[in-house]
Amino acid sequence: MSGNILKPVGQLEDREAENEIKQLTAEIFYHDKCYHVEDNPVISDSVYDALRQRLAELEARFPQFIQSASPSKRVGAPISNAFKKVQHRQPMLSLDNAFSPEEVAHFFDRIRRFLGLSPQETIQIVAEPKIDGLSASLIYLNGILQVGATRGNGIMGEDITENLKTVADIPHTLKGSYIPQEISIRGEVYLMLNDFNQMNQAREKIGERAFANPRNAAAGSLRQLDPKITAQRPLRFLAYACVDYNENTFQTDESILLQLRDWGFTIPDYKVCNSEIEVLAYYKALNESRSSLGFDIDGAVYKINRLDWKKRLGEVARSPRWALAHKFPPELGQTILEAIDIQVGRTGTLTPVAHLKPINIGGVIVSRATLHNEDEIIRKDVRVDDTVMIQRAGDVIPQVVAVINEKRPSHSQPYVFPHHCPTCGSEAVRKEGEVARRCLGGLICPAQAALRLYHFVSKHGFDIEGLGFKHIEMFYQEGYLKTPVDLFHLEERDRHSLTPLRLREGWGQKSAQNLFKAIEERREISFERFIYALGIPQIGQTTARLLAQTYGSYANWRGAMQAAAQDPNSPDYLELININGIGESMARDLCAFFHEPHNQQVLDELVSTPQKAGEVHVLDAMRSTAIDSPITGKSVVFTGILTLLTRAEAKAQAERLGCKVTSTVSAKTDFVVQGENPGSKAKKAQELGVQILDEMQWLELIGQT
Ligand code: IVH
Repeated sequence: MSGNILKPVGQLEDREAENEIKQLTAEIFYHDKCYHVEDNPVISDSVYDALRQRLAELEARFPQFIQSASPSKRVGAPISNAFKKVQHRQPMLSLDNAFSPEEVAHFFDRIRRFLGLSPQETIQIVAEPKIDGLSASLIYLNGILQVGATRGNGIMGEDITENLKTVADIPHTLKGSYIPQEISIRGEVYLMLNDFNQMNQAREKIGERAFANPRNAAAGSLRQLDPKITAQRPLRFLAYACVDYNENTFQTDESILLQLRDWGFTIPDYKVCNSEIEVLAYYKALNESRSSLGFDIDGAVYKINRLDWKKRLGEVARSPRWALAHKFPPELGQTILEAIDIQVGRTGTLTPVAHLKPINIGGVIVSRATLHNEDEIIRKDVRVDDTVMIQRAGDVIPQVVAVINEKRPSHSQPYVFPHHCPTCGSEAVRKEGEVARRCLGGLICPAQAALRLYHFVSKHGFDIEGLGFKHIEMFYQEGYLKTPVDLFHLEERDRHSLTPLRLREGWGQKSAQNLFKAIEERREISFERFIYALGIPQIGQTTARLLAQTYGSYANWRGAMQAAAQDPNSPDYLELININGIGESMARDLCAFFHEPHNQQVLDELVSTPQKAGEVHVLDAMRSTAIDSPITGKSVVFTGILTLLTRAEAKAQAERLGCKVTSTVSAKTDFVVQGENPGSKAKKAQELGVQILDEMQWLELIGQT
């Protein structure tokens, strides 16, 4: 979203609304990916909520501009590519949220109306804590765990069976006398707070970056490609539901919970409530006992107890009518803001952080809070020595929500956001339309350099094990490691050093040797990993893959980027922005990277080319046109509302496989894929004898099921 003050939705022209909707949709998509796929959120929950809220308002007023990738059309996160995909037997839905007793009353009313119940009829509700973790689905065949999966986008998840098998309270075999032939169990994977804290302390000790909160730590632990790593993480599992149960065996949700317990699962501490009043009393008591539970919860979940009613109620769009999440309000506290510190991120973004007089909020001592960006400070007029209201929500990074104006000291001065980087002194500028002010120091700025180097060696980049952030900072300060090129000279320099690595605290002969070996092994790297490792703003794993597939080789990409960076009217720039999935803003960041002479120099030294030997050899990627699939060289039209994937996803997938996606059906069209409510295009296809597929058939054809 732009840094300008937002116009009220009612005052927007069509064109403005359309632009903003497009931009917000892309932005939210990006943040969803950071959160769900990369376990690395870059904004706080409340900023994210504000983006979603604004988009919802815009979409309500300008429905004609709703994008196919709109979050309102998706159930969950996009799925990552590292794991095998599995289709859930029944979609893993999300819950409608309620924040007030009125909304809870509305939930009860809706049930009564839908089922035609009289006001006297008791509606039993099973109330339980809403655990702030990640949902997982487990399939047992004849009592033996076969498949364990993440929720993914709700329809398709990732197969993480081996990782889930390492979770202590997931039984590999169901206990007891009643063992169904087949059953899917759903529950939440989470971490206890003390385990989370210990884990973070251990990480920091070895120079790894701490996880932001237990949920992200659980997500990161669960998505390890090596189950041995997951096994070292103290993950827990609470089972809260079954699907595909035999309707004759169970009449109530409670009996399912008890069965889950008999099978050997840990179940949430639930209560069967007989009225709305009891439900609200449960909620209040749960909120009060929240800090003593030992794990994070973000509300209560209410589910209808009678399974025959549950069946009749069914689902609307992405959430069931038979259940509700009653969320807790974020916890608040008041304290004094003692200073505003500016942190410099990997891409040079200056982020203001409030230093607070420590305060206990909901059992957690808070001494720092994020202020997000320059505009936020101006908007809230936050000043040093102000008394501020702090909010700690489930995401743990506390935020400054407001200033208590009455308590402002008379000497206070408005805060002036620095225009220079506090770390390297370079100019920090804010580009038009951007929220962030960024340091221009690039590779000379120590704050950025160490973080960039850390990104360079991170798991999805060069993946050099044993090189934590603290080590990188140390080498950086000693002058051993300034650019990625130096990485490949570390061993040689170490040999001539007076204080070789093996003699340093925390290192030995073996660990030093292992590190050098790990570096040597990465002298050959895939193209997409290489692109990702460069840490170009906005270029995450997915985009890196897209670029690698589009350009095929490093030499080709470098040439095209260099040309695009020189001239925004060049065919290379146009080709770049025409790639599905690359927007103007990404293209600008790519060009800015290639424009910078320091970066060019690093690339020149780093990569071997036919003309000159460098440190690393970047392998060619398979270009999408070289891919052989049943749809390569064909053309497809999507019509109607797609439910298994978003339009953008479908388009990107098809294009990746070398299939042309067009919007009008002609005799040249090979396939028409129809979602719900297909319009005239399906009819035209029929007339022309073009093959018509539904989404499932399409996914089968392209091998994505
Ligand atoms: S029941 C139709 N019970 O909340 C979905 N969900 O917003 C039925 N969650 O994806 C889910 N604790 O990850 C249920 N006691 C609980 C839960 C719970 C946490 C999560 C779950 C789900 C999300 C829905």
